[in-house]
Amino acid sequence: MSMSKKGMPTWLNLSGILVLTSGFWACKHDLPEPPPENCQEGKVYYSKDIAPLLLSNCGMPGCHDAATSADGVNLSSYEELMNSGILNPNAPFNGDFWEVLNESDPDKRMPPSGPLSVAQLNLIQQWLSEGAPNSICTEGCDTSQFTWTGVVQPLIQSKCQGCHNASTQNGGINLASYSLVKTQALNGMLNKAIAGSGGVQLMPPGNPLPSCQLSQIQSWIAAGAPEN
Ligand code: HEC
Repeated sequence: MSMSKKGMPTWLNLSGILVLTSGFWACKHDLPEPPPENCQEGKVYYSKDIAPLLLSNCGMPGCHDAATSADGVNLSSYEELMNSGILNPNAPFNGDFWEVLNESDPDKRMPPSGPLSVAQLNLIQQWLSEGAPNSICTEGCDTSQFTWTGVVQPLIQSKCQGCHNASTQNGGINLASYSLVKTQALNGMLNKAIAGSGGVQLMPPGNPLPSCQLSQIQSWIAAGAPEN
């Protein structure tokens, strides 16, 4: 994973100005959070859609996690994102946040490993057009359901692939396809990572899977990691 200074001039140059002006929109997130609701299909939620995307594609160690906060930008929580001064909820498409994701110059675009997918950008666009709220929903999770296509693949996609694709490969691990995930499932590494056992760091770092999702993946592994 490379993180050249050359690749980040916009964040760097504007951060001073943005710190000075961020007080103008600081009041928005002092409002009470909307109460959690059950996740509805077709709606975008910060908790379900945006947070895992940012953690997996931007908030990794060495980049925009709390410890590194490259160029003063920490994307490890909603509060930190709002405090970073790159996203004004009152003009969400005007700040650096949306700009760097859509940069045509690959040296300035984020993430440095390659652009977000169209589907990911659409999720972010929908969320920004709603004013970037701290929306939280409760995902229905049923431990008796653990198919590859219905459960495991979407989980790996949203919670692991940003840090574990062909270009990022943190820890030398690529989880970008069924056969790659199956290899890690059958050699025991997948379970060690999501359970944080056997001397392996708990994954995703700082954002462990809820127990129901943990159990779903473990049941799928125990069933032989089928492509069902
Ligand atoms: C924010 C980035 C990030 C996310 C998200 C993430 N990982 Fe990792 N992963 C890492 C890093 C960094 C390492 C290397 C850790 C080390 O070497 O100590 C790693 C290492 C691993 C390893 C190898 C461990 C070893 O000791 O060799 C496995 C397996 C793994 N991750 C699985 C997962 C799974 C499964 C998910 C999703 C549930 C996930 N990771 C999500 C960053 C991430």
